[in-house]
Amino acid sequence: MHAPAKYRPETRLVHAGQLRSQFGETSETLYLTQSYVYENAAAAEARFKGEDPGFIYSRYGNPTLAMLEARMAAFEGAEAARTTATGMAAVTLALMGQVKAGDHVVAAKALFGSCRYVVEDFLPRYGVASTLVDGTDLSQWRNAARPNTRTFFLETPTNPTLEVIDIAAVAAIAHQAGATLVVDNVFSTPLWQSPLALGADCVVYSATKHIDGQGRCLGGIILASEAFIQKHVHTLLRQTGPSMSPFNAWVLLKGLETLSVRVRRQTDTAATVSVALVEHQKISRLIYPGRPDHPQAEIARKQMRGGSTLVAFEIKGGKEAAFRFQDALKLVRISNNLGDAKSLITHPATTTHQRLTPEARAELGITDGLVRFSAGLEHPDDVVEDLLAALDAA
Ligand SMILES: Cc1ncc(COP(=O)(O)O)c(C=O)c1O
Repeated sequence: MHAPAKYRPETRLVHAGQLRSQFGETSETLYLTQSYVYENAAAAEARFKGEDPGFIYSRYGNPTLAMLEARMAAFEGAEAARTTATGMAAVTLALMGQVKAGDHVVAAKALFGSCRYVVEDFLPRYGVASTLVDGTDLSQWRNAARPNTRTFFLETPTNPTLEVIDIAAVAAIAHQAGATLVVDNVFSTPLWQSPLALGADCVVYSATKHIDGQGRCLGGIILASEAFIQKHVHTLLRQTGPSMSPFNAWVLLKGLETLSVRVRRQTDTAATVSVALVEHQKISRLIYPGRPDHPQAEIARKQMRGGSTLVAFEIKGGKEAAFRFQDALKLVRISNNLGDAKSLITHPATTTHQRLTPEARAELGITDGLVRFSAGLEHPDDVVEDLLAALDAA
């Protein structure tokens, strides 16, 4: 570890966790190996007995993965971290690792589509009941807790309507009920929000998004106390194997070095876009967590250090107008991804949230005219000009 806690978070993003080899390389090394060799049979035995802390097999330990885990843990202020193949593997492990048949989970309704599938469809198949609540209504969290509730799960800001949920308040309710709180921090990014410091027990990321930030690799990260990781995550990851490839870990590690610069620029662009579009005559509603007219502006100010790299807005004229708008864009590309160097636009009702019933979408405010914009790294004026020109065509 070459970045002690005295350094500021951005400095730790560049230096923390590096395991420099005997060659003294400047950049981190990609250890593309499946397994490890031992000096002799006794050394192998000691490694397997846990008497020697070295690596055994890359399904559950590799120096490049270890560097990424240590760097993320140092940035997030977590005792421990584990990497997974995708963000969904991280979410699934963090939840499944805590429950058994007969247990109960409470989650906010406004979740990324696959996360909602895990909670609503997948956990009940294995005898784990789940209740979905309006995450912004604290009384619903309180009333949903049962004696067998093991964990609460939420994302904030939410996908795609950018609702902000009070992490500290929900953590207090979870702890009172004897449960833990898991927070999906993808939309906020580790730069702008630290759920562990606000009382959450575990944070999960799709590293696929801002941590890579250039649309190359999938990945997931789970951060928590050493006790949480050992009890709920490590064994499940080791024995079931949804592990990250060392190559992806290396790409993501290098992504962390530029994370703060990229996310700051993307946040500035998103804020610029929100100002340029908010009063546009073809837009009926615009949601941006950095704005004072955001429905939970006070909570956002309290728990987030910055705005968001995403803006959601509703185009008058429903699906037809939203499609005309997307098809008229020249620079901003249509994609369900986010956090990329390229600015992207998504129509959640027909893509990421298509699986939900029209009633469930209506309940979440996902109207047919709603689009989600993810700011990239282009010049902000080019992005704004492209969006305004496409609105003319909508
Ligand atoms: C909020 C959120 N959580 C989790 C995921 C899942 O991540 P991945 O695609 O890396 O599995 C995504 C996006 O895909 C997401 O937007």
